[in-house]
Amino acid sequence: MTVDLFAAAAPLEPAEPAQPDGTQPDDAAPVVELRAVTRRFPGPPVVEALRAVDLRVERGDYLSIVGPSGSGKSTLLNVLGLLDRPTSGEYLLDGRVAGTASEGERARLRAQRIGFVFQSFHLLPQRTVLDNVVLATMYGGVPRARRRARALAALERVGLSHRVGFWPTTLSGGERQRVAVARALVTEPHLLLADEPTGNLDTASSAQVMALFDELHADGVTLAVITHDLAVSARAARRVRIEDGHLEEIA
Ligand SMILES: Nc1ncnc2c1ncn2[C@@H]1O[C@H](COP(=O)(O)OP(=O)(O)O)[C@@H](O)[C@H]1O
Ligand SMILES: [Mg+2]
Repeated sequence: MTVDLFAAAAPLEPAEPAQPDGTQPDDAAPVVELRAVTRRFPGPPVVEALRAVDLRVERGDYLSIVGPSGSGKSTLLNVLGLLDRPTSGEYLLDGRVAGTASEGERARLRAQRIGFVFQSFHLLPQRTVLDNVVLATMYGGVPRARRRARALAALERVGLSHRVGFWPTTLSGGERQRVAVARALVTEPHLLLADEPTGNLDTASSAQVMALFDELHADGVTLAVITHDLAVSARAARRVRIEDGHLEEIA
């Protein structure tokens, strides 16, 4: 699936209220809650990629999602990240029903509240590291005057202050993925979603990214990480497994 995360969202210039979209999130509510969510792809053959999935991602959770190929992991991530809609069931973001919101509203919520990290980094090769991160602020409700400083701070947080002027193509895989994490973090999302974030990385680079996720978790960032890699999954505080569209907690 090719994802253009920012295409549908209009650039915003808010005066920086508590919430960029002007709503007050319910602090006690889960960041995301799925209630009996089903996602059916019309065939033929019809595929039920998610079957009556119930899931609450609480503030500060570090959740890993494992499961064999084709089990529904990416479908789940797309639903969690407002990239796709459930066929039936309810989706709540910060305690508010968002499954039925308009495309424009969903794009805005996505840009402001959710950060994405993908296996293949999705960096723009013709932009510097800094510009790749600044770009995410343009749709994420960060005032223009703060964008550069926020991007620099995000890059510092992932240990890449010495790479801000580099082209992505000159970086190692681990560095590229850390740029992608900085880009995901720069809008201070309520939820960081990662789909096989170490899938293209060697062992040393994977270890760097996992260490970074540990730090983010310690800082209170809410993380949901899809992974095949048991070493990655073992780092999470909470694990769920998806198999044939059914989700279950792993003790
Ligand atoms: N856009 C789509 N149209 C039809 N079937 C799809 C689509 N996306 C995923 N599927 C099917 O849904 C099931 C789950 O896919 P996916 O969520 O990508 O699995 P995973 O990420 O665990 O490998 C698979 O059977 C897949 O073929
Ligand atoms: Mg997948």
